[in-house]
Amino acid sequence: MKMLAGNWKMNTTPNDGLALLDALSEGLTPERIGDVHVVVAPPFTHLAWSVQRLWEIPEISVAAQNCHEHASGAFTGEVSLSMLKDLEVDAVLVGHSERRTYFHETDATIGKKIRAALDTEISPILCVGESLQERQSGQEWTVVERQLATALETVDAEEAHNVVIAYEPVWAIGTGEVATPEQAQAMHARIRTWLKERFDGGTAQTMALLYGGSVKPDNATALFSQKDIDGGLIGGASLSASDFLALLDALRQS
Ligand code: PGA
Repeated sequence: MKMLAGNWKMNTTPNDGLALLDALSEGLTPERIGDVHVVVAPPFTHLAWSVQRLWEIPEISVAAQNCHEHASGAFTGEVSLSMLKDLEVDAVLVGHSERRTYFHETDATIGKKIRAALDTEISPILCVGESLQERQSGQEWTVVERQLATALETVDAEEAHNVVIAYEPVWAIGTGEVATPEQAQAMHARIRTWLKERFDGGTAQTMALLYGGSVKPDNATALFSQKDIDGGLIGGASLSASDFLALLDALRQS
């Protein structure tokens, strides 16, 4: 399945977000979407009306950028999956490197969030990826494998069809430095093989594997044409409707 997901991060006021969503939905014609599943992940404050505004375009899903693993309770400032479900949010980013780094999310917490998302029937988009230091010391696969194994520990093959994996090398996120298509493909192929061993061949093939980290219109085609790259998780370039639509064109044509 081809997928293009826009992670707006902590950007846009509600008014700015509304303008961006309107510009996007104007460009998202059925011809342009083709066989691509489009996901937008705006801030929490924008979710309710984003779902309503995109209601008529079923090929587009709305995702939250984070969630809490508990269903309710005394967790001031947090948002639960049942709240997201009630808003009819379809998906949630889990384990983004900014959550791991700035908010100290551990692999164990991420595993609990994945479990809670699947139990709520919200599709988790699990983000994995190594730091620059880990890549320079040849540890990239050890790190990614650990992240995958812990996050998916309780997940069975049937549930795995609803999980999306986003490989985002930390050194490429928001830095303008992008993994080469060969580096990205090599990691995606390893992830695919791991999923095949962990689940089965059919499941591994149907799961969407996204690349994330400084994907822009000028480097997208080379990345998206790689065999095991099914799409992208886009930060900076998702804040421009024209860039995001150009990425959609690149993915559809790849
Ligand atoms: P970027 O962010 O495209 O700005 O590098 C990607 C992400 O963090 O998901």
